[in-house]
Amino acid sequence: RVPDDKDPLSTVAPYACQRRTSITHHNAQITDALDILAKAAAFQGSEVRSLAFTRAASVLKSLPYKLQSVEEAKNLVWCGGHCQAVIQEILEDGVCHEAEALMTSEQYRCMELLTGIYGVGVRTAERWYKEGVRNLSDLENPNIKLNSDQKAGLAHYTDLNQPVTREDAERVEHMVKDTLYRFVPDLKITMTGGFLRGKQQGHDVDFLITHPDEEALSGLLKKAVDWINRQGLLLYHTMKARSHVHAYKRSTHMDGHETCYAIFALPHPDTSNSESEVPGGDLTAPAARAWRAVRVDLVVAPYNEYPFALLGWTGSKHFERELRRFSWNEKKLSLNSHGLYDMEKNCSIPATSEEEIFSLLGLQYVPPPYRNA
Ligand code: GTP
Ligand code: MN
Ligand code: MN
Repeated sequence: RVPDDKDPLSTVAPYACQRRTSITHHNAQITDALDILAKAAAFQGSEVRSLAFTRAASVLKSLPYKLQSVEEAKNLVWCGGHCQAVIQEILEDGVCHEAEALMTSEQYRCMELLTGIYGVGVRTAERWYKEGVRNLSDLENPNIKLNSDQKAGLAHYTDLNQPVTREDAERVEHMVKDTLYRFVPDLKITMTGGFLRGKQQGHDVDFLITHPDEEALSGLLKKAVDWINRQGLLLYHTMKARSHVHAYKRSTHMDGHETCYAIFALPHPDTSNSESEVPGGDLTAPAARAWRAVRVDLVVAPYNEYPFALLGWTGSKHFERELRRFSWNEKKLSLNSHGLYDMEKNCSIPATSEEEIFSLLGLQYVPPPYRNA
């Protein structure tokens, strides 16, 4: 069927980066179910099916009205038969039985539990599940080997699965800026990720750091982390050194920026004093402690890569994936958090702002609050 201009449905563009997607929208009940189906498919190792559900959910998140009938969905991109069945069921019964059944299944419950540990991805969780792990206490089995990320993740499990509120994030921002400005007062520091998109809570707090003078950035993360450690507020961290990323690595969201993945002890607002002791784990009841553990990502980007790093770290994950897919499929350009590359001419295309990157791609600028695809 050929879309026509009067058809409101024809305004739903095929790539999420061509659409505006707010945090709140009109079809949450349906997208909640589709998000569960996407997650369950990922838990079962079906990346392709998972992506199909994510795409359908993302289209519905961008719809400017509430779906009234399954007929309306038949014209929408990415909403195939399975998605339509979900919509029909929710419109008729108010629930999606498939999603309900999946959510209460033992596999889903365990995968959710295990992937909730920092440092545990789907593949590790699946291996442990096959080995019989059903609860966190099963990880005490000496046959199960945890790496250092996972040990820290387990030690701070309760706190790290407690949503980070915007107030928490602002206090982390204060702590990060206060620390970094000690070493270089005129750094540019931006809170990225979900909070920049306007989310009220998140699973971590992300920061991007840059400076026109490359020298100012060298050794900075290490100094900052040492400082936080001396304040007794560093629970765990890993450093990833800067590395060269090839332009052709367009299919991955991993990048070569210097990054610190950390867990901070964030003092509670009313009890913050220099004497508050930070023990090794969160086994003490959260209320009895003067702090909570928070995951923090600190990313350092060279000044000329800053707009690309900002675009890459603002998310959402699906928005990023769609931007890269659009760049490659429609423009034959490779986009990542370092730059934009013309593979045919074998040259990189510079940009000084996110707006300019969208414009170079022939896309309308999408501000961060509309990137919740
Ligand atoms: P919550 O933290 O759950 O609130 O959501 P979020 O959107 O902030 O997710 P997250 O912190 O995981 O990631 C923020 C953005 O950075 C997302 O768009 C990710 O795709 C991106 N991102 C995460 N890890 C990496 C990485 O190693 N390299 C790059 N380039 N991007 C990453
Ligand atoms: Mn985040
Ligand atoms: Mn993050």
